[in-house]
Amino acid sequence: MLPQEFIRVKRDGLKHTRESMVEFFGKYLSGEVADYQVSAWLMAAFLKGLDEEETYWLTSCIINSGQTVSLDDIDGIKVDKHSSGGVGDKVSLAIVPLLASVGLVVSKMSGRGLGHTGGTIDKLESVPGLRTEVSIEEFKEILKKVGAAIVAQSNALAPLDKQLYSLRDVTSTVESLPLIASSIMSKKLAVGSDLISLDVKVGNGAFIKTPEDAKRLSQIMVSLGKQNGRRVVAHVTDMNEPLGSAVGNTLEVIEAIEFLKGNVQNRFGRLVMELYEHTIHALHYDAPKVEQLIATGRPLEKFADMVAAQGGDPRVVDDYSIMPMAPHRVDLLAPATGYLEYVDTTAVGLAVVELGGGRKRKEDSIDHGVGIILHKEGGSKVEEGEPLATIYYRDENSLMAAKNRLNAAFRVSSTPIPERPLIWSVLE
Ligand code: URA
Repeated sequence: MLPQEFIRVKRDGLKHTRESMVEFFGKYLSGEVADYQVSAWLMAAFLKGLDEEETYWLTSCIINSGQTVSLDDIDGIKVDKHSSGGVGDKVSLAIVPLLASVGLVVSKMSGRGLGHTGGTIDKLESVPGLRTEVSIEEFKEILKKVGAAIVAQSNALAPLDKQLYSLRDVTSTVESLPLIASSIMSKKLAVGSDLISLDVKVGNGAFIKTPEDAKRLSQIMVSLGKQNGRRVVAHVTDMNEPLGSAVGNTLEVIEAIEFLKGNVQNRFGRLVMELYEHTIHALHYDAPKVEQLIATGRPLEKFADMVAAQGGDPRVVDDYSIMPMAPHRVDLLAPATGYLEYVDTTAVGLAVVELGGGRKRKEDSIDHGVGIILHKEGGSKVEEGEPLATIYYRDENSLMAAKNRLNAAFRVSSTPIPERPLIWSVLE
């Protein structure tokens, strides 16, 4: 089938066959199908959807585009974790070392920034020297030695996801349940963990805006897990405001390290704690509470060990100045007295993209040092003129664009804002 015929099937809302999907994506990987043709297909799939079978076939195409990694020769219980993407979501950076520090083996394949959301891989690469594209052998060596690794899709692991992901990022085709489900689950199913813990974000800063869609996405991913004989627990968690105070690569690494030092008690810290408890509970595993664990210093050590094993400079845990940092800062002040509401959390993520912290085109490199520190959580009482946020920027043009975005993100309300839960529901 010609690529244009394959694209037409989806454009017209018809169903693909398994064979045609295998052929189209196989040809894409070998260079016979062009990026622009896949971009057109992604838009067609975004608009017309993929049914359950097509989603399963796409997931299989992505898994089979690379090798799969059996972890059977590594002792211990293997856990994987993934988020569907949010603003300021640095949970993986904290929970991976936390879980590894109690003896679990945490094998995580992550992505780069997508749309308005930052990616764990981009964040980690703020650490000088740190490599996220490692061979399968090295990935397993790190897991055996440290018990934790966070690596990127690569030519060896889910290479098709790497290519689709970077096209979706710049063609407005991210927010599709089957495309998200196949992208996330292919990365999780390519690596043989015992438990896949998913954080499905919902709200005005997530790709998924409604609890119904978040539940549907969770169901698709849990069912992809079951079809492949794997256990998946999906947590639908709130993304109606940025998670924690830092948004931007270096800044988020710092906040995650501060959490591991016991210095962060905000919504980000509380979500890490809850997800840790849920994972331990799901595994019936005997492990201390987060506060006790952090007091031992072991999670911080585990983070430093993981960084070192991936070629990064472990001194980062004591010296943040070795990471890139933007040269200029400016405060954004509260326009009135009242209660702070994040009416458009996506705008905070896009402000960081405007600053250079995310990509506008797939070949763009990113600026790890820019970002935003938010001084108030949603619902906080604020006084007119007090700083709501500090913007870390490199040049005036990007600052202007970021400020315009940020102004649309907040509202100061005269009435209190109702509290929202951190975790809306859990599906298994
Ligand atoms: N994370 C992924 O890996 N893929 C998506 O599509 C969204 C979030």
